[in-house]
Amino acid sequence: MDILTALKEKSDYTTNQLQMIFGAWVLSGLFERNGSKVSATSGAVEEEDYDKKSVYSLLYSLYRSMGVVKSETGEPYEFTFNTWGYAWPKTWGPSPILATDPQRFGRNAYSGLFEFPQVKKYVAERDGKVHVVEMGCGTGAGANHVTMNVLPECTYEAVDMQQTAILTCQRRFVPQAKGRLVATCADCTQVPIADGVADIVVVNETHVTEHGGQVSNEDILFLGQIQRILKPGGLFVWGNAIPDDTWQPCFDHLASIGIKLVEERDVTLEAIQARDEDAGRADAYVEQCVEKFWGFRIPHLGRLKRLDAEIALKNFFRQPGTDLYDRMVDRTDTYKVVLLQKEG
Ligand SMILES: C[S@@+](CC[C@H](N)C(=O)[O-])C[C@H]1O[C@@H](n2cnc3c(N)ncnc32)[C@H](O)[C@@H]1O
Repeated sequence: MDILTALKEKSDYTTNQLQMIFGAWVLSGLFERNGSKVSATSGAVEEEDYDKKSVYSLLYSLYRSMGVVKSETGEPYEFTFNTWGYAWPKTWGPSPILATDPQRFGRNAYSGLFEFPQVKKYVAERDGKVHVVEMGCGTGAGANHVTMNVLPECTYEAVDMQQTAILTCQRRFVPQAKGRLVATCADCTQVPIADGVADIVVVNETHVTEHGGQVSNEDILFLGQIQRILKPGGLFVWGNAIPDDTWQPCFDHLASIGIKLVEERDVTLEAIQARDEDAGRADAYVEQCVEKFWGFRIPHLGRLKRLDAEIALKNFFRQPGTDLYDRMVDRTDTYKVVLLQKEG
């Protein structure tokens, strides 16, 4: 069982199934000839060694199965923001988010997408009644934050390819939005949304545009869908930590399809600060996860795979000391929040 490649995005794994999956993964250590795919020191996994559909399928089932957990300070919360986020930049004024919220950096990331003066003006001119489409929404935690706190008059369609994440959105967030939030399971390279309906397209840490210095075929399809569903003059707000040399090729490609860069904000330092301040919560989460699954208690093999699982999860969370954290420190990856606009 290779959990990095074998799981399916349309499957919703129960806790019992996860117990079997982790158990089988631990036992598969017996047959590993070339060692682990996970770097023992940095948690890095080579691109060709994993499939994002499998990894997110596992993660969203894991988050759902863990349910309410405790932060490092004992605060109960359900892990729903699959977001690194960033500390609220001082130059943006006081933070709109509670300093005690365990998922405050994720909330910051979503609030920050709407901080651009031009976005505020666009929304105000429509009395707040804008239609937002999010591509790669995960569990919809950010969609919920925006519909409840940032744009209380908007309508919002949140789309992700992962069935479990969309089911979480439908369970946790759709009911309280009282008809203003719809959650759709689809691959955003071919999203089932009509042309020209969105005032604002949101992309927040969606796992695309990850290839250094280039716009991949998937990226071209994904960005093309944004162009198609935006209204003329509509806005595209995008935040992520991606290879620094990928931003410009993406901007060039977007310009070639009629979406122009309006403003670019670099929050890499604040993203590193967030990871430093969030380290205790992430450690506590990883600990609670590995404790829950019996496979990791299998003598010897269980301990080895537990180390793999811990370092891989921590790298995914960009914990200090991991490969993805170091990539922000040396600016191989930069975290930017950008505003673009479709020609009107
Ligand atoms: C790091 S998570 C971020 C999720 C969410 N935006 C958040 O901040 O919590 C990346 C997400 O991108 C989604 N994703 C990647 N490629 C996608 C695609 N082609 N279509 C739809 N979703 C995609 C994944 O399924 C995953 O949920």
